[in-house]
Amino acid sequence: MNVCVIGTGYVGLLTGAAFADLGNEVVCVDKDQRKIDMLNRGEMPIYEPGLEEMVKRSREENRITFTTNLSDSVKKSRVVFIAVGTPPKESGETDLQYVEAVAKEIAANLDRYTIIVNKSTVPVGTGDFVRSIIEANRRRDVDFDVVSNPEFLKEGTGVFDALNPERIIIGAPTRHVAMDLVELYAPLEAPMLITDVESAEMIKYASNAFLATKISFINTVANICERAGADVTQVAKGMGYDSRIGREFLQAGLGFGGSCFPKDTLSLRHVGRKFGENTELLDSVLSVNEDRVPRFVRRIIETLGNVQGKTIAILGLAFKANTDDMREAKSLEIIAALKEAGATIRAYDPIAMEAAKAVIPDGLTYCRNAYEAAENSDLAVIVTDWNEFKQLNMEKLKEKMKNPIIFDGRNIYKPENMKKFGFEYYSIGRK
Ligand code: UGA
Repeated sequence: MNVCVIGTGYVGLLTGAAFADLGNEVVCVDKDQRKIDMLNRGEMPIYEPGLEEMVKRSREENRITFTTNLSDSVKKSRVVFIAVGTPPKESGETDLQYVEAVAKEIAANLDRYTIIVNKSTVPVGTGDFVRSIIEANRRRDVDFDVVSNPEFLKEGTGVFDALNPERIIIGAPTRHVAMDLVELYAPLEAPMLITDVESAEMIKYASNAFLATKISFINTVANICERAGADVTQVAKGMGYDSRIGREFLQAGLGFGGSCFPKDTLSLRHVGRKFGENTELLDSVLSVNEDRVPRFVRRIIETLGNVQGKTIAILGLAFKANTDDMREAKSLEIIAALKEAGATIRAYDPIAMEAAKAVIPDGLTYCRNAYEAAENSDLAVIVTDWNEFKQLNMEKLKEKMKNPIIFDGRNIYKPENMKKFGFEYYSIGRK
């Protein structure tokens, strides 16, 4: 099938690459010439394990192409995916300006029946919105349909997730319209659910907000564990054996970051409020999350007495492991708060250093590895659970530090081991 994907961010690029991998002819469109040039050189604009190899295979077979030419790409495609950014506005409402602009351009170029698919995370009602824009702006009287097909992949495991989805949701005006997408996804042999457009849009937000709720729930439990002398990792394990609860997304830590959970929970709350519904649960999920870093930093300051003039090593900058994405990364909040309190920061991340330098160009020292970051530090903080931090040479780390104090925001070490190595060790929701 001829497929066009507009937007080459995480969702667009992985969607395009997966469809091409399945043998479709895919054209990926982006208005950013720099990104398209990179992709045409075989370079990926994002760090995502396995993506470059997957794209390379399809490029060699000419199954995937990259262009800024939206017009030609839309004209030759049966299915057009909109996968552009949907950032939040100040109020929490989703900003649909890029979706709107793309819908207008698609409308101007429609010359035969086309299925337009909202792949971006968009609030309930956006299917209708896109339909009305295309109706108002199309130049020829050609038929079209708008479908919602939300994406559930996670950064860092995006290639696997795109090829092995746990479910495929197709929100279409009729079952007949859904069939082209059913055909497109059939080789993945994943469970498919066909719904109306609005329900598909809600499934995406409800799923992300639910996972965010699990995280705020376990973080609330972690706070109580800290006071009560219980161990939240054991508590989560014990809870997780109950299949109704499940084991995943019960890791207490610094709270949820990234480009999805914070924004999508805010957006769902905004939609709820717009309809005059009670959103107290979502308010709490967000406020628990907002207090994670301030609480953690308060503990650091209490432990050191005062961080003025102290040197703090930050290990991990990306919002989570296996990505270079710095959006809503906890490191940004922690670094800002510690600097504000007068600390000197030495930081290291295995992959996200360049991305971090773009957001915090100065005011801290970027180091070549964890040991260099720890050099002469009064305290080290684990912010991202990169694998390479899990097996650090603790003796070497301790030698480098002025004071052997570790604040572990991800619970990657065992307290008893850290004690044996002679560290003063603080983690989340554990004694
Ligand atoms: C999330 C969802 O997991 C995907 O299903 C969804 O497709 C995606 O958003 C999206 O809407 O595009 P992602 O943001 O890549 O994926 O990252 P997650 O692995 O879900 O982690 C989100 C945040 O929650 C991270 O800050 C992570 O550190 C935190 N987290 C996750 C916890 O604090 N505890 C956990 O147990 C799990």
